[in-house]
Amino acid sequence: MVEKADIDDHEKVVTISDPDSGLRAAIAIHSTALGPSLGGIRCWTYPDMREATRDAMRLARGMTFKNALAGLPLGGGKSVILGGTEAKTPSALHAFARAIDGLRGQYIGAEDVGTTVADIDFMRDVTPHVAGTSWGAAASGDPSPHTAEGVFVAMQAALDVVHGTDDMHNCRVGILGLGNVGWKLAERLSRAGAALLVADLDPARVAEAEAEFGAQAFAPRALPYAPMDVFAPCALGGALTVDFAKISPARIICGAANNQLADPSVDTALWQAGKLYAPDYLVNAGGVMNVAAEALGEYDAYRVATQVRGIRETARQCFEQAERTDTPTGAVADAIALARIGANSAAA
Ligand code: NAI
Repeated sequence: MVEKADIDDHEKVVTISDPDSGLRAAIAIHSTALGPSLGGIRCWTYPDMREATRDAMRLARGMTFKNALAGLPLGGGKSVILGGTEAKTPSALHAFARAIDGLRGQYIGAEDVGTTVADIDFMRDVTPHVAGTSWGAAASGDPSPHTAEGVFVAMQAALDVVHGTDDMHNCRVGILGLGNVGWKLAERLSRAGAALLVADLDPARVAEAEAEFGAQAFAPRALPYAPMDVFAPCALGGALTVDFAKISPARIICGAANNQLADPSVDTALWQAGKLYAPDYLVNAGGVMNVAAEALGEYDAYRVATQVRGIRETARQCFEQAERTDTPTGAVADAIALARIGANSAAA
C-alpha cells in the first residue's frame, strides 16, 4: 500500500497493487469527523490509477456530505477497483477485503456500480468492515426500495412548497431511467395517482411501464423537455444542464441519480429559472440509511423506514431556507451538511 502525498482535503488515500491476484484499487477516506467513513466499492474501467484515485476522492467527498445531511454518525469514504467486472476474481476480492481490513474500521465498504451483494458477502469472509450483505442478524439487503421511498417523500415536500398540496392526482412526473430505483418510484407514484412519463435506454422496460402504469413513453433525450410538473432523473448523472433550466417546463426536479448537475453553475441556473431542485444527495439517501443501519450493527426495519421518511422534513427545511435566503437549494444543502460536519473538522 502506498499513501499518497497529494490527497487534497482527504484524511487518507490508499492505493493497492497486489501482483498475486492482479488487484489494482484505491480507497479514499474524506472525513471521519462524524464517524467511520462509509461508501460504496465501485468496480469500473479507468485509464490509470491516477484517474481511479481521483474518482474515489471525488466520490468520497460526496459521501461525507450525503452521510452528514442524512444525520448518520458516519463519515465519507469510497473505493474503486480498476478494470471492470472481470477484475473481480475471487482472489482479487479477497485481497481488496484484506486492504479494507487493514484500515481497521476507518472505512466501511458497500455495494456500488459494478459490485453486488454477492461480492460483499464474499468479502465479509475476510473483513467485518463491509455492509449490504444478504445474511446475518443485521443484513440490510437491497437498498433501492429505500432510495425510491426517500425520493417519493422529498417529492411530496417539493409539491407542498410549489403547489401548496402534496396531492399527486393531476400531477405529471417524468422518470428518466426505469432501473431498480426508477421502477420502484414509478410504482409508488402510480399508487399515489400521478400520471407518468417515462424513458429508458431499454425499450422492454419502457413497454412494461406503458402496460403496468399506463405511462407515456418518450425518447431519453426528449423526456426532460416534455410537458410535466416534476422531472425525476433516475439514470446516470449530468441530466440537469443550463439549457434544461431554461427550457424544461418542469417546476420541480426530484430524482435518485447521483451528481445530477452537469456542472455546479446549474444549481444557480435552476434557481434563477424558478425551478425547485431537490438536491440529489439529500433525496437519494434512503439507500445509505438502510446500509448504515447494518454497518452500525443494529438493523431495525422500522427505524430505517422512519429515518427514510424523515427525508421529507430535511427537504422541507432545505427548500424553506433557500426561499428565505434566496439561495439555490444545492448550496443550501451543502451549507447544512457542512454545519453538521462542524466548522473546525478536517472536512470543513
Ligand atoms: P440501475 O442501473 O438499476 O438503473 C438505471 C436505469 O437507467 C437502467 O434501466 C438504464 O437502462 C437506464 N439508463 C441509463 N442511461 C440512460 C439514459 N441515458 N437515458 C435513459 N435511461 C438510461 O440503477 P439504480 O440502482 O436504479 O440507480 C439509479 C440512479 O440512482 C443511479 O444514478 C444511482 O447512482 C443512483 N442511486 C441509486 C441508489 C440505489 O439504492 N440503487 C442509491 C443512491 C443513488
